[in-house]
Amino acid sequence: MGTIILGIESSCDDTSAAVLDDGKVLSNVIASQAVHLRYGGVVPELASRAHQQNIIPVVDKAIADAGITVDDIDAIAFTRGPGLMGSLLVGTSFAKGFALAKGIKMVDVNHLQAHVSAHFIVDDERPLPRFPFLCLLVSGGNSQILLVKDYTDMQIIGQTIDDAAGEAFDKCAKVMGLPYPGGPVIDKLAQEGNPLAFDFSKPNIKDYDYSFSGLKTSFLYTLRDRLKDDPDFIEKNKADLCASLQHTVIDILMKKLIKAAKDLKITEIALAGGVSANSGLRKAFDELHTKRGWTVFVPKFSYTTDNAAMVASAGYRKYQMGIFCDQAVAPYSRTVI
Ligand code: KG4
Repeated sequence: MGTIILGIESSCDDTSAAVLDDGKVLSNVIASQAVHLRYGGVVPELASRAHQQNIIPVVDKAIADAGITVDDIDAIAFTRGPGLMGSLLVGTSFAKGFALAKGIKMVDVNHLQAHVSAHFIVDDERPLPRFPFLCLLVSGGNSQILLVKDYTDMQIIGQTIDDAAGEAFDKCAKVMGLPYPGGPVIDKLAQEGNPLAFDFSKPNIKDYDYSFSGLKTSFLYTLRDRLKDDPDFIEKNKADLCASLQHTVIDILMKKLIKAAKDLKITEIALAGGVSANSGLRKAFDELHTKRGWTVFVPKFSYTTDNAAMVASAGYRKYQMGIFCDQAVAPYSRTVI
């Protein structure tokens, strides 16, 4: 047995615990919170309560699934932020109690660095990216291009100035009456539609920054105008609307990423975050390899949305570098890397 890290993720609406042995995943348990479904979005107060109920059973299962005992754990890594404060407090307080009870080190992890660290999980079938590389981090709350110089040294070179890519999917899905989260549903419906059926507006933003609020407005105006003449417009055109929206989001994301890669002369490119589950975006990444010869890193599906394996992976690297936190640590809801 090597260095055993227990990871805890509780930044939003998934309670997760994972065990890693020298960076290899032994277990990764995720309890999703169905309670938010009927509200069409995450309700912070309900999320905190569900984390409080889930955290002990989820950790117990992660330890059992890993085939280790509590005494084998060398350190506990937890998401310190950014995220929902009440949710983060549950994971942080659990980590403090656990570390104190077992007399082990605590490692605080930035949630965004954790998404990138999904690529540092040791897996015999997957090579690790070489530094420096670029990572497109796309989730429900973030859309960023990161220049990853080291396991902990990540520089944001571009980011959204308003909505995130996942938010654009979720909000457009909501106005079409689709369930939350909208991204996976749009992805599925888009398979049957024509990506060029509708022409939504694209932003003109400086450097490597993104904007998705204009696309969202353009989508809403299209629906409003067309619903006037045809009340069944959404129902009849769902697949085309989804395909065109997805096509536009991917186009916006990829153009800036390719520009950054060319400007910085970096051809190792990684994808991370919940939206990296999107089939169209994965295809666009495959094309970076097949058409341009770049080296691409796309995470396994299980490490795309919020999970503790990526937190433990970030924690393992910090542990190796001797970077720890103490019992006075407090979570943060917002931060830059
Ligand atoms: O990283 P993540 O789990 O956490 C948050 O940022 O909350 O990302 C969740 C986001 C949601 O916006 C969801 O709609 C989106 O990821 N998502 C997808 C797909 N699967 C999840 N977006 C597009 N296509 C998908 N297949």
